[in-house]
Amino acid sequence: MSVSLFDLKGKNALVTGSTHGLGMAMARGLGLAGANIIVNGNSSQDKIDKAVTEYKNEGINAVGFKFNVTNETEVIDAIAKIEAEVGQIDILINNAGIIKRTPLIDMEVEDFKQVIDVDLVSPFIVSKHVVPGMIKRKAGKVINICSMMSELGRNSVGAYAAAKGGLKMLTQNMATEWAKHNIQVNGIGPGYFATSQTEPIRVDGHPFNDFIVNRTPAAKWGDPNDLAGAAIFLSSKASDFVNGHVVYVDGGILATIGKPSNED
Ligand SMILES: NC(=O)c1ccc[n+]([C@@H]2O[C@H](COP(=O)([O-])OP(=O)(O)OC[C@H]3O[C@@H](n4cnc5c(N)ncnc54)[C@H](OP(=O)(O)O)[C@@H]3O)[C@@H](O)[C@H]2O)c1
Repeated sequence: MSVSLFDLKGKNALVTGSTHGLGMAMARGLGLAGANIIVNGNSSQDKIDKAVTEYKNEGINAVGFKFNVTNETEVIDAIAKIEAEVGQIDILINNAGIIKRTPLIDMEVEDFKQVIDVDLVSPFIVSKHVVPGMIKRKAGKVINICSMMSELGRNSVGAYAAAKGGLKMLTQNMATEWAKHNIQVNGIGPGYFATSQTEPIRVDGHPFNDFIVNRTPAAKWGDPNDLAGAAIFLSSKASDFVNGHVVYVDGGILATIGKPSNED
């Protein structure tokens, strides 16, 4: 009973931005729990093909679709193709995202708009075209990838925080509108994760590394695979009465005000 609650065998999961990074870690988790993974990215077909091979090497059923999540026409075409070639989409993880680190006063309006477009508008666009199928079948799971910046500000990430704060509220509103169709919409808010992008700063003595390790009650960066459990839970039967929450997988950062660096 307890294992079957989390079983995703035969479910089709579209994970946007799953060619690498956190999207890939969550998609791998769903795949190892039995789901067929629909891989997405935008920058190159080659990258998608390589990712599909990586999933398959781990025994996961995977197919790739290249489309830009901010472009509604591309999204509509891709979803029609996925539904025709793979089948119904049971699980949607809106993970594709970007960040631009610029103080607000120096930020170009176009850059601000681009962050909002990818991080906030695209989960709306993709959901708008995937959810009608879920409504017809009276079943579905949508997970929006939020951030600690859905709750907190930080220097130089104003556009990102505006988008991710908005995404938390969009999650609550989607949950409100779609719960009656047996569609559960929730979010995952990752803390700081050890990815290839953060590798150069993840060294003892680097001010940002030391800040993160000191600021996190678990006293370490997260391993991307730590996100798999929350992703499986929110994709499975185990969360059938969980609506409109954001699960923060952050080593406890949001639980505390932090501590001085000279305190144990
Ligand atoms: N890394 C962290 O510590 C952290 C913390 C909190 C929240 N998050 C959130 O977690 C998510 C993943 O982060 P990450 O660090 O893994 O990012 P990442 O390494 O930069 O990967 C982003 C993914 O999104 C795809 N993508 C970007 N723009 C796209 C578009 N317009 N259309 C389709 N795909 C697009 C990329 O695919 P291609 O490159 O193939 O185009 C890639 O697969 C994001 O929403 C991010 O905000 C990350």
